[in-house]
Amino acid sequence: MTLALPPGFRFSAATSAFQIEGSRDVDGRGRSIWDDFLEAPGAIVDGSTADPACDSYRHPESDVALAAGLGLDRYRFSIQWARIQPEGRGRGNLVALDHYSRVVDLLLDAGVTPFPTLYHWEMPVAVEADGGWLNRDTAARFAEYAALVVERLGDRVSHWYTLNEPAMTTLQGYATGALAPGRQLLFGALPTVHHQLLAHAAAFEALRAGGAQQIGLVNNHTWVLPLHDTDADRAAAHMYDMIHNRVFSEPLLDGMYPDLESLGFPPMPVQADDMARIRASLDFYGINFYNPTTVTSAAPDSPIPFGIVPTPGVPVTGFGAEWPIMPSALRDLLVDLKRRHPQLPPVIIGENGASFPEPATAGRVDDQNRIDYLTGHLAAVAEAIEAGVDVEEYTVWSLLDNWEWADGYTQRFGLVHVDFETGERTPKASYDWYRDLIAQHREEDAR
Ligand code: BGC
Repeated sequence: MTLALPPGFRFSAATSAFQIEGSRDVDGRGRSIWDDFLEAPGAIVDGSTADPACDSYRHPESDVALAAGLGLDRYRFSIQWARIQPEGRGRGNLVALDHYSRVVDLLLDAGVTPFPTLYHWEMPVAVEADGGWLNRDTAARFAEYAALVVERLGDRVSHWYTLNEPAMTTLQGYATGALAPGRQLLFGALPTVHHQLLAHAAAFEALRAGGAQQIGLVNNHTWVLPLHDTDADRAAAHMYDMIHNRVFSEPLLDGMYPDLESLGFPPMPVQADDMARIRASLDFYGINFYNPTTVTSAAPDSPIPFGIVPTPGVPVTGFGAEWPIMPSALRDLLVDLKRRHPQLPPVIIGENGASFPEPATAGRVDDQNRIDYLTGHLAAVAEAIEAGVDVEEYTVWSLLDNWEWADGYTQRFGLVHVDFETGERTPKASYDWYRDLIAQHREEDAR
């Protein structure tokens, strides 16, 4: 099948360090907030740890071979802060820097552009102990870490993601406690928005000073739908849209926070030139998209002013009603973002994908459901481009089945099946589909 994607459109796939690497106790790695989180009784549905996960720290070459076999333009992977600065400050851990340097060399030798993320949700516990993202100083510490990494890799890596999905860190890490560090501050979590965006801006400056050419962050965006066409549901949907999407997009794209006070929230802890720095910090705008969110007005005894409910009338992924499938929502959100922000920089879809129930043991998986999901969302991207949105790249989450955070090994997102008992990797039908799609687009580009 041919999708109407423009010449030069890039195809990528992603993983993240804590979800694939394992080897949590080697080469001087420090503890991260996820090491603490996963030890809490009942925190992880299957009681698993992220060790060995895909054992990728010991065998990066097998992941690189799979990335190269797809013909990817870029491979999005992440670097663990707790490996580089075990105590969250000070000199870089040379053994860990060498490791990531080797990953970069393997990718370059295989013809795949390395596209690292500096922060995919795991911070050294020493930084969290000082307040984590509630503390403004974390922004400067993050920039120090970014400087160490670019100093080592910047001769070969010129494209960088700073933070992955600050919205999930705020909403699930600090507001509800579903992800590390497991804080339950509800709206008390809001300062973590500003401190993360400031950290992104400070890291942008450090990476640029180290010669980086293309720097951005990747926001998780959802398309928010009111359950009923009533004032109450529309107001609830508006509030959710503010705290999931717009409080992250508007400072980056317009240099201003949306009017939070009119919704009853405290103002952001903004100082002097923060907003100018945040606004000047994007070469591209990264978007991770998985599903729409349907919102209704809050139940009378609820501590939060909206309720999230299943999206009626659409299929779902392995997460059930929590993860509805609606590709048109991706098109609608891209078109809406461009309408709100005519100066939108080039967009990169940094993650998109789905989990489905699949066997644990090694074997070929005929995942037509994943192929349908990915095809639908790529078609939505093509429609958004047709409508005038400059989307340059699409990234599948994930190259490999991996450790799905609080869901442990129970949700499989990979183009490649991983048997977590033996480490065996088996490309799924979706792997072949993506490889062929990329090859076909390359042929068309060459014509
Ligand atoms: C995260 C990934 C995660 C994926 C599926 C994204 O929000 O960046 O780490 O595995 O969603 O849940």
